[in-house]
Amino acid sequence: MRKNIVAGNWKMNKTYQDAQALVSEIDNMVKDEVSGDNVEVIVTPPFPFLHSISKLIQGNSRMHLAAQDVSAHESGAYTGEVSASMLKSVGVEYVLVGHSERRQYHNEDADLLLKKMKAALAQGIKPIFCCGEPLEVREADDHFKYVAQQLRETVAHLSNEEFDQIVIAYEPIWAIGTGRTASSAQAQEMHASIREELSRLFNAEAAYNKTILYGGSANPGNAKELFAQPDVDGGLIGGASLKSRDFTDIIKSF
Ligand code: G3P
Repeated sequence: MRKNIVAGNWKMNKTYQDAQALVSEIDNMVKDEVSGDNVEVIVTPPFPFLHSISKLIQGNSRMHLAAQDVSAHESGAYTGEVSASMLKSVGVEYVLVGHSERRQYHNEDADLLLKKMKAALAQGIKPIFCCGEPLEVREADDHFKYVAQQLRETVAHLSNEEFDQIVIAYEPIWAIGTGRTASSAQAQEMHASIREELSRLFNAEAAYNKTILYGGSANPGNAKELFAQPDVDGGLIGGASLKSRDFTDIIKSF
């Protein structure tokens, strides 16, 4: 079933002590201020903090743990990589795949992204598949075709059962870290286009039930309007997730 999710992508930030403090603050604020169970919260810290944070949030059914990357390999001579089974062993439930920063800085192509998703799924870890266009593609009005192609060259090759496990995150590259958020209308029209493409690639029911998150300069001031859009099911939050007050206010925006 489609669910509301607010996921915080910490990227390469915080020290061990700061990470523990941030998660404890978020955990306490969410417990005190967020009623009901209509939103799932995910924190996505850097690898070194995963195990300790998994212990911190244990028992809080609303809070979940994601990793920022995963190896396409099961194990072996891949220095510096982290496997899905390692992530599973420390309590990771989700993993980002295809984030624009990894596509850009690590040349992650469609073939590798599909392998990463398959490796995660084989361990029962849910991929959060990231897609989104650069500014020049939007300015050329090619953004719908661009994002649809990102889905066709990766997600389309999953089985129906695998597809049911994943989350989609639309992150227009020109909105990431820039303070230039997509308007709620821009977010809605792209999310609707993604859902329509997923319906073609799989089936209408599976597409309808798919959680599609928006990411790109989301903050407490714009989250409410973004999340009110019919095809926006939450957010993948960068900078604002590093501040417990802002992140909690975004969670409260549903
Ligand atoms: O993965 C989320 C991230 O790319 C968005 O970053 O700082 O624009 O919220 P930010």
